[in-house]
Amino acid sequence: MNNSIWRKKPMHMFEQDMQKSELKRVLGKWSLTAIGIGAIIGGGVFVLTGTAAHYHAGPALALSFIIAGIGCIFAALCYAEFAAMLPVEGSAYAYAYGTVGELFAWIIGWGLILEYAMGAMTVAVSWSGYFNKLLHLFGIHLPANLTNDPVSFGGAAVNLPALVIVWFVTWILVKGIKEAASANNMIVILKVAVILFVIIMGAFYIDVANWTPFIPEETLVEHESGEMLPAYGWGGIISGASAIFFAYIGFDAVSTQAGEAINPKKDMPFAIIASLLICTVLYIAVSLVLTGMINYKNITGDALKAPVAYAFDVAGQPWAVFVITAAATAGLLSVMLVMMLGQTRVFLGMAKDGLLPKFFAEIHPTFKTPWKSTILVGAVVSIVAGFTPISLLGDMTSFGTLFAFTMVCLAVWILRFRDPNRDRPFKVSGLNIVAPLGILVNTFLILNLGRTAQVFALAWLVFGLVVYFLYGRPKSHLNTRE
Ligand code: ALA
Repeated sequence: MNNSIWRKKPMHMFEQDMQKSELKRVLGKWSLTAIGIGAIIGGGVFVLTGTAAHYHAGPALALSFIIAGIGCIFAALCYAEFAAMLPVEGSAYAYAYGTVGELFAWIIGWGLILEYAMGAMTVAVSWSGYFNKLLHLFGIHLPANLTNDPVSFGGAAVNLPALVIVWFVTWILVKGIKEAASANNMIVILKVAVILFVIIMGAFYIDVANWTPFIPEETLVEHESGEMLPAYGWGGIISGASAIFFAYIGFDAVSTQAGEAINPKKDMPFAIIASLLICTVLYIAVSLVLTGMINYKNITGDALKAPVAYAFDVAGQPWAVFVITAAATAGLLSVMLVMMLGQTRVFLGMAKDGLLPKFFAEIHPTFKTPWKSTILVGAVVSIVAGFTPISLLGDMTSFGTLFAFTMVCLAVWILRFRDPNRDRPFKVSGLNIVAPLGILVNTFLILNLGRTAQVFALAWLVFGLVVYFLYGRPKSHLNTRE
């Protein structure tokens, strides 16, 4: 029995798992692409653009989006190569298990919890914020103790909308992947339409004076905490790229759906790359329009919370505020949907390998979804979203994602050397440049995240190691199968 932490899951075992899979193969290439877009376009573009323009990049925000987009495209290409080669549930976790080794795979799986479950929590709270704003537009005001967590409120309170919406999403996910995909497709059409509306309509209100100088000189800017931090210039563009990275998270969630794709070898690479490229182009256009419509110096106070809506308010189009708020509210729903979907599929992959209890791999006889794990994920996400302040969670989500990206680039590269003759339905050309650049850019972005988030995320990974040595390693199927 091979007890090494480097033991790998042999490729034939992946193939056997794929043949035995009970999930329904119903997702075509556009549904998969919509899953990517569904997870990508969300709170990031509607909220972080303001912060990134005001505190980091100024009008050059579009360059921050380009830099973060380049970091993502390296990772996306590597994900695509893997996803076509090993179209199994579990995404980056499974890829690492087949190539680098069990411990590595475990750490990635554990890191992906930061991305998907914590991402879903963060987005649930943002959703609650947008939902309340929408209610306000209709003159409805929920009591503050029902829309805040007890810590922020300072007493008995619950963020009820956040809690309830997670259960709604959980219900859709338990019912079936097809239902989830149809709900997602509808929301994606709506939010892409609104982003196009922002770009086209906003273009008429651009004042080019707001773009000059396009890259303002580096200077110190006072943050909400009172700290004076460097902004603008090329340094600001780069720190802006870390700040808006959250907006790109999600294209990798496509790779968790391999078990449900009709033709994964061809369609996974397509969907991963297409969803990322479509969103990158939209993001660059939105950031140019936004910084053209309003001066980055004026994005302060409440404007920071909803910069896109604010820009249309300034343009004298208050009805657009309604359209944007409604679309963001619907749009965030699909981000949650895909994040929670991704989480359960990663758990499914880990449970099938014995690294997590069987509970996570139990498939509902009628719905054909991992229903028990979906309900458990829903319960945890809803409780955290309802009762904790989440300012930290956004950065931790980015940490988990960047960590997975780095590992995927590394693993794809390693496999090219270890197993050069393997059938690769999608092969990245110039991998010897793409993979190291992906590793460098993504590691660099991790180092640029907030210190507290870095410490918490590392503590989470260390805790994961303890669980691995106490549970995962002794229970791994590789103990018995070998
Ligand atoms: N990219 C997703 C968002 O911006 C997580 O909400």
